[in-house]
Amino acid sequence: MGKTVIAVNAGPRKGWNTDTLITEAISGAESTGAEVKRFDLYRLERYTGCISCFGCKRERNKGHCVCRDGLTPVLDAIRASDGLIIGSPNYLGALTASFRALYKRLVFQNLTYSRQ
Ligand SMILES: Cc1cc2nc3c(=O)[nH]c(=O)nc-3n(C[C@H](O)[C@H](O)[C@H](O)COP(=O)(O)O)c2cc1C
Repeated sequence: MGKTVIAVNAGPRKGWNTDTLITEAISGAESTGAEVKRFDLYRLERYTGCISCFGCKRERNKGHCVCRDGLTPVLDAIRASDGLIIGSPNYLGALTASFRALYKRLVFQNLTYSRQ
């Protein structure tokens, strides 16, 4: 069965370096038979980083972020995927704030505070 890959463009500018590199990476993944879905973070509905609500730590939520905003479809798609491509410009020595917000939501939902 073909692989599903998510491509996240964490840069705001169309036609510039990050956009170009992401587009090329997508072509590469597609050339191997993967199905690629692309998300341009700066074109999504408004979203935030982790708000520390701890909803994801509730038993019934099973490590899923409960915040509903522009990132929800991205988090769902990454969860169901086989691979992830991330492209971000360097802004002040770091990945963009838009990417950091996604990263916090993506990682924190999977962290456990229980001892077992
Ligand atoms: C807010 C901001 C901060 C930046 N900080 C850095 C930096 O710390 N180091 C660097 O080498 N370039 C920095 N740059 C330059 C960008 O990384 C560079 O222009 C990059 O090509 C932008 O990606 P893009 O072509 O996809 O828009 C910064 C640009 C902006 C707008």
